[in-house]
Amino acid sequence: MKVIIVKNYEEASQEAAKIFINQVKENPQSILGLATGSTPIRMYELLREDHEKNHTSYKDVKSYNLDEYFGLDASHPQSYHYFMYKNLFNGIDIKDENVHVPCGQGNIQENCDEYNKMLAENPVDIQLLGIGSNGHIGFNEPGTDFDSRTHYVDLKESTIQDNARLFFDGDVNAVPKQAISMGIQNIMEAKKVVLIACGKNKEDAVKGMIEGPVTPELPASVLQNHKDVTVIIDEAAAGL
Ligand code: GLP
Repeated sequence: MKVIIVKNYEEASQEAAKIFINQVKENPQSILGLATGSTPIRMYELLREDHEKNHTSYKDVKSYNLDEYFGLDASHPQSYHYFMYKNLFNGIDIKDENVHVPCGQGNIQENCDEYNKMLAENPVDIQLLGIGSNGHIGFNEPGTDFDSRTHYVDLKESTIQDNARLFFDGDVNAVPKQAISMGIQNIMEAKKVVLIACGKNKEDAVKGMIEGPVTPELPASVLQNHKDVTVIIDEAAAGL
């Protein structure tokens, strides 16, 4: 695990953006695993700026997002599908047919099976991750099996609370209680992983991920077993 400690969120975003831009320049047909949450927002903005200025092209890139809330339509402003278009896809030249976000509606088991099949046929070159304050990656909550693949998830109360700030007026009741998420095994199959963590509320999870035992109780600790992981953390998240 390569750990890069930077001063702040801006520097972390720049560092991560550099890695993704280089990846796409080196392999214009890259398959990107993408993440949501507040952490990647600035990095996505930097990718959009770079596309505008330097014309890095995503026209042959495919993307697979980690997760989606259950029960939200793709057009719902709080859905991760909507988030991805707003923060990244509308500002780059990726083709709609190359964009994949798990579908949180309809027959979830069928959706999970279909997503796993697509991932098996399109192995992710580089997977972006954030981390939950309880150590979750994607929506793989503490206790998730390391051999899990895309699955239906009951969100932990702490995750619902954490994510409420991103919902209308921070309304905790508006946050779905379930989600669909790539499993830990899917994440581990990515050729490279880049995880960004910023802020003091991530310091416990970051310490556990890097120094703690590898345990399903802290899902991100599994990354210690991956052969190509870069963790980019700011000083606050590196506090412990
Ligand atoms: C959600 C997402 C995760 C993300 C986490 C952290 O739970 N499913 O992929 O890493 O939030 O979010 P934030 O970056 O807002 O702290």
